[in-house]
Amino acid sequence: AARATRDATARDDGWHDVCGVEEVSRSNARRAVCVAGRHLALVRAPAPSARLHAIDATCYHMGGPLLWAEIEEVPGRGACAVCPWHRYHVALTTGERVYRDLNGEYVGIARKQRVHEVREDDASGRVLVRLSRDEEAWESDRYAMKAPPPASAGT
Ligand code: FES
Repeated sequence: AARATRDATARDDGWHDVCGVEEVSRSNARRAVCVAGRHLALVRAPAPSARLHAIDATCYHMGGPLLWAEIEEVPGRGACAVCPWHRYHVALTTGERVYRDLNGEYVGIARKQRVHEVREDDASGRVLVRLSRDEEAWESDRYAMKAPPPASAGT
């Protein structure tokens, strides 16, 4: 298990080199990374999407560690992180809180957990992250610059 102890390398275009693609290539891979002082969780959703996501590491609700979240596929909302503390569902693509309403429909509430841009560069074999530049406040912002995330769950 590796802990993100130093800031990722910044490039001129705002992208930060955070780790090697092979470190997060497995289904359900996790890694804690630090980008410009902000603690993020890199999370690989299981199949079918198998997509890599970068979200604020600390749950907007009360500070739970999303690095340790189970990932659940929610109809119409895609892969969601299920916070280990109170089981809130956070959509990995949009950062919405997702819940089931009284009609059994899955509903999303926007702008809870800030999501960041992430891409896997095949040429260099590196994972690049660019912080969200949305100037609106997201609820997870209040935790993002403070508490360090727990040690990585391993990759
Ligand atoms: Fe994440 Fe409560 S801290 S659901």
